[in-house]
Amino acid sequence: MKTKLFLTITIFTTAVLLSAQNPIIIPGTLSGTAFELNLQNGTFQFYDGINTTTMGVNGDMLGPTLIMQKGDDVDITVNNNLDETTTIHWHGMHVSAENDGGPHTTIAPGASWNPQFTVLDKAGTYWYHPHLHEKTNEHVSKGIAGFIIVQDEEAAALDLPRTYGVDDFPLVIQTKDFDAQKEIIVPSNSDDVLLVNATIDPYLAVPAQVIRFRLLNGSSMRVFNFGLSDNSAFYMIGSDGGLLSEPLSLTRLQMSPGERAEILIDFGGKEGQQLKMMSYAAEFNNGIYGATYPGMGQMMTLDGYNPNAMNGTNFEVITFNIVAPNSDPVTTIPTALVDVTPIPESESDITRNLNFTPEVSGPDQLNGNFFINGTTFDMDVINYSIPLNNTEIWSITNQSGIAHPFHIHDVQFYVLDRNGNPPPASEQGRKDVVLIKPQETVRFITKFEDFANDPVPYMFHCHMLIHEDGGMMLQFEVVDLTIGIEDNEPGADGFVLFPNPVTDDYLTLKSGSEEASLTSYELYSLTGKMMMQGTVADKTAEIKINVSGISEGLYFLKAFSGQTAFTQKIVIQ
Ligand code: C2O
Ligand code: CU
Ligand code: CU
Repeated sequence: MKTKLFLTITIFTTAVLLSAQNPIIIPGTLSGTAFELNLQNGTFQFYDGINTTTMGVNGDMLGPTLIMQKGDDVDITVNNNLDETTTIHWHGMHVSAENDGGPHTTIAPGASWNPQFTVLDKAGTYWYHPHLHEKTNEHVSKGIAGFIIVQDEEAAALDLPRTYGVDDFPLVIQTKDFDAQKEIIVPSNSDDVLLVNATIDPYLAVPAQVIRFRLLNGSSMRVFNFGLSDNSAFYMIGSDGGLLSEPLSLTRLQMSPGERAEILIDFGGKEGQQLKMMSYAAEFNNGIYGATYPGMGQMMTLDGYNPNAMNGTNFEVITFNIVAPNSDPVTTIPTALVDVTPIPESESDITRNLNFTPEVSGPDQLNGNFFINGTTFDMDVINYSIPLNNTEIWSITNQSGIAHPFHIHDVQFYVLDRNGNPPPASEQGRKDVVLIKPQETVRFITKFEDFANDPVPYMFHCHMLIHEDGGMMLQFEVVDLTIGIEDNEPGADGFVLFPNPVTDDYLTLKSGSEEASLTSYELYSLTGKMMMQGTVADKTAEIKINVSGISEGLYFLKAFSGQTAFTQKIVIQ
């Protein structure tokens, strides 16, 4: 593990420092293949001379940027030195569910977790953060979050700025609510302090050349609408899951919680000048957290939301003080980047329809929880079983009054359309978060590859952390149907199922041991639709399931013994 210390950029020129501002903190880096992360309690001075209680990784606030190479086998040790349980999730990375760090993969205080995986992702900007159910917001808001930069050969061949802290800067933009003692209030809808890399009112000295920024909206709730104070163009080069096919010239970029974007700004010829990055929140329509009204109209109120100078107004994010260029600057915006090949709609095996609704209907709904398909998160319920290598369209409709950023683990997806219209160019790359506005239907396509049959599921959820913690999250597992098809081959825990193929009306399911241990079963179609389910009244060692009502075909049967389950493919004839 190569370590670089927290570096604070303190280069400044006298001419441009007119307002009292703070030099931005740039997180240190860890690189190589072995990473050690120490989660710790701390105190941090957001305000001069005032200690705020925080949580951090290898320090008091935020965490180091992990630099990984595609194809490397990485070995991460996460030591939980907090006095409470948490988890660490690698947001956006394609790893097995066991290594994914979701709510099931808890790390007790004093314990360590050691995920090991091959980096399969394309060069891009990912991030890590806690994911403990009902505690995600608290642990993220108190400070645990860090960047992951993946590099690969395809990206290395491009003439892009890539010297960390010199012409390539990570910027995590967050809002927080501080009380009178400057302690962080969680949860809160009164987030009125903007921080970039944990720095309030930040400035950054940038050389007068092409600079790359890796933007992450790490806020619990707030959506931003980034733009430059002189309304000049900047160039988006990457979305959540890697580089775009070509730079996209923009003057505005909307980003919701969890989303990342890589942008280039050309500061060439502007030495001695100052430029600000703004969030033009006045341009938001109502129905977005960040607009004047977070719900669809003035009557939909959110406790604590108004008044707040950030809502529906334009505000500064960071000031760039432009200094002399480096000796070897990047001076041009490339014309092409990497191959991005969306999955054609014709390859889809199934469309799943998802629906967001408020728990409380009517004008007070913003203060309640939200459902996905009428249900709320249950650690013990797997909501979708997805066959390995399935290509799926997810069609998500928002029937609530506020926009929700939808996030799915395991995969990157391609947005197909928004209410039937092609998505904006900024959403045509690989994504893992998409904002779904009230009354909108967004469809995306993705493929579930490589990882299956893990003991824990993956998550999909709203990335507004109050909503996520409030249960706006469900789970899926990926099941490899090509294993376990042999007749009478014992499954995990010695379960046996026969006959297979099922040629008469009944299927017998037997627990391998003499002990009566079956508790329930579920029968799924190949597309993951539950066809039958049953609970075994008294725990028993053998049950007969009547499948006469099920049409011929391939299915999979899941048998449960308490918390453990085994899945087997069956043929009904
Ligand atoms: Cu960024 Cu499920 O999380
Ligand atoms: Cu994630
Ligand atoms: Cu939400």
